[in-house]
Amino acid sequence: MYRATNDHSCTKGLKEKNAHRNEKLKVKKLIIIGGFGNGTVVQSTVEDINEKNPTWNLLGFLNDRETDPINGYPVLGKIDAETVSRFLKDPDVYFFYSLISVKLNYKFLGKLHDLQIPQHRFATLIHPTAVISKYAKIGHGTCIQPFVSVGPNTHIGNHVQIFAQALVGHGARLDDYSYVANNACIGADVHLKEGAYLGTNATTLEFVSLGKWSVTGIGAVVLKDVPDYAKMVGNPARQIGSVAE
Ligand SMILES: CC(C)(COP(=O)(O)OP(=O)(O)OC[C@H]1O[C@@H](n2cnc3c(N)ncnc32)[C@H](O)[C@@H]1OP(=O)(O)O)[C@@H](O)C(=O)NCCC(=O)NCCS
Repeated sequence: MYRATNDHSCTKGLKEKNAHRNEKLKVKKLIIIGGFGNGTVVQSTVEDINEKNPTWNLLGFLNDRETDPINGYPVLGKIDAETVSRFLKDPDVYFFYSLISVKLNYKFLGKLHDLQIPQHRFATLIHPTAVISKYAKIGHGTCIQPFVSVGPNTHIGNHVQIFAQALVGHGARLDDYSYVANNACIGADVHLKEGAYLGTNATTLEFVSLGKWSVTGIGAVVLKDVPDYAKMVGNPARQIGSVAE
């Protein structure tokens, strides 16, 4: 399923195949806001979804820095309300907002809101290898990457990103804009408040809460509630500062 390749003829062939399928099927159009980095991870997931079940016609990216195609997809314009409003006129166009900055995520929120995209026009993307309980609730504009496991009675909000191989225990609540890096392990009934960030390989005890826009570093082991905006590291996790400083 994975194509770890720079072989452009292969990518071209895939796109032609997809374009042909899209003609026959009623697929939704998608624009990824972002680019190299997280945007291309999302692009990969979209392609894997399409291979399994043609769902999205990926039109391209919105990006403030790049003008050349990104992995063969055009850059359609800058990330601004005027560009977005042009595409919003087509009711079949959906968006995915992929911009992330570990310690400054809350500062990106204004940029997202300025675009004035109605919540229902954000795509929710779930990789075909993810295992999601049918009792989980998932919001708009959320992306769940390969081999993630999401337990029953979890509530995952809008614009949440869960990266490869992470585990979300039963009853967990992941509020809007929270972020779970790859291989992180969220215990049962844990609460990630708005924008909380859990780093690669970090683990949490059940029932703890991670404060708003807090950042918990790679490999941390969280045993107690994390304050809002706190920067946490280590085992057991301790606060080394604040992302709001
Ligand atoms: C927690 C984190 C945000 C701190 O970043 P920072 O503010 O730039 O911190 P610094 O690198 O200046 O380190 C500050 C101190 O904390 C220590 N530290 C930083 N991250 C640590 C971690 N994850 N575990 C243990 N100690 C850590 C540093 O060694 C340093 O200690 P010192 O003062 O004794 O030298 C960052 O290290 C981190 O883990 N980010 C998550 C990355 C991630 O998950 N990426 C996934 C997507 S690829």
